[in-house]
This record gives sequence, structure tokens and C-alpha cells, in this order.
Amino acid sequence: SREEKLEIIKKSIRNYNDFPKEGIMFWDIFSVLKDPKAFQLLKEVLIDTVKEIQPGVDCVVGMDARGFIFGSFLALELHVPFVPIRKKGKLPGCTFMASYTKEYGEDTLEIQVGSIKKGQKVLVVDDLIATGGTLACASQLLRQCGAEDIVYLAVMELEQLKGRQLISDSKCISLIQL
Ligand code: PRP
Ligand code: MG
Repeated sequence: SREEKLEIIKKSIRNYNDFPKEGIMFWDIFSVLKDPKAFQLLKEVLIDTVKEIQPGVDCVVGMDARGFIFGSFLALELHVPFVPIRKKGKLPGCTFMASYTKEYGEDTLEIQVGSIKKGQKVLVVDDLIATGGTLACASQLLRQCGAEDIVYLAVMELEQLKGRQLISDSKCISLIQL
């Protein structure tokens, strides 16, 4: 069952104290990918989750960098485009930019102009919701692009940080709460 799969996935997640800064507990999604059985189960749960989103999504947006891992196969599965949101200075051509504060520092994200069509329903994928700063920044960029409806999907959510309050205008799904 979904619950059994999530239990196995959860057990494969390693955490590290004081990384990348003192006082931060780091939840390492790559520890799941190192375990082929757990990764396979995560793939299945993610695919089941996105297939239940109705009406369907027009586009999958992956967050740099770990959102790319999951976003790309979800886009293929849904037969829709995959679009990256990247840290500044990585995307060629015209871009929209937005800055944000996250659990451990400030950053700027970019999306290519024209990568999303006005009125589209967009699924935004990342590994983790901590403060919600990253996804709130994605929301700003996607509104600039004219996205109408946004659904956020993260593998892990640090519920105590209440990150989903920053993106309360849209539906937000997390698989594992830590
Ligand atoms: C981590 C994580 C999320 C974000 C969550 O990414 O992958 O994207 O932080 O934190 P928030 O909810 O407080 O914004 P990070 O910025 O460390 O970069 P990376 O994914 O490129 O490694
Ligand atoms: Mg990230």
C-alpha cells in the first residue's frame, strides 16, 4: 500500500546535524536514491500522486537542483513539458527573476520567459519544503509567467517550520512529514 511504501522510503532518508550550517538539520534525499528499492517505491508513489491531480496539469516545473530529479520523470509520465526554475545565472535567454530568503541564506531564482503559457495549470516539484521560501519564490516567478493554477509537490516537509503558510494560495502536497 501507499502507507507501506512511504514507511520504507522514510526509513531510507538520512539526516545530518549542523549541515550546511550550525543549527540546521539536513535531510538528504540522495540517501533514498542510493537505495534502488526505496527509489523505485518513491517513483511509484510520486506518479500515483500526480495522476490523481484533477484537472490535469499542463506543465511540470522542477526546482534547482533536487526538484529536477523527480520533475523530469513526472513530466514524461504526464506527457507534458518539463520546465526548470534555476539559481541565478544558469539559464540562457530572457528570464524573470525573484529573490527569496531560505533556511540558510538568500538566493535568486530564474525562469525563462515564455516557458509557461498564460492560464496554464502548473505542478511545481521539489525534494523538501522547509521555510517555504523556495516555493514562494517559484510562485512569484510563475505568476509573472501567467500561470493560473499551481500545485506544489514535495517529497519531504518540515512541518514545524510552517513553510506551507507562505504558499497558502495554492494546493500543496508532501509525501513525508518530518
Ligand atoms: C533546499 C531544498 C529545497 C529548499 C527548501 O534547496 O532542496 O529546494 O532548500 O528550503 P525552503 O523551504 O526553506 O526554501 P537548496 O536551496 O539548499 O539548494 P539545492 O536544491 O540546489 O541543493
Ligand atoms: Mg533545493
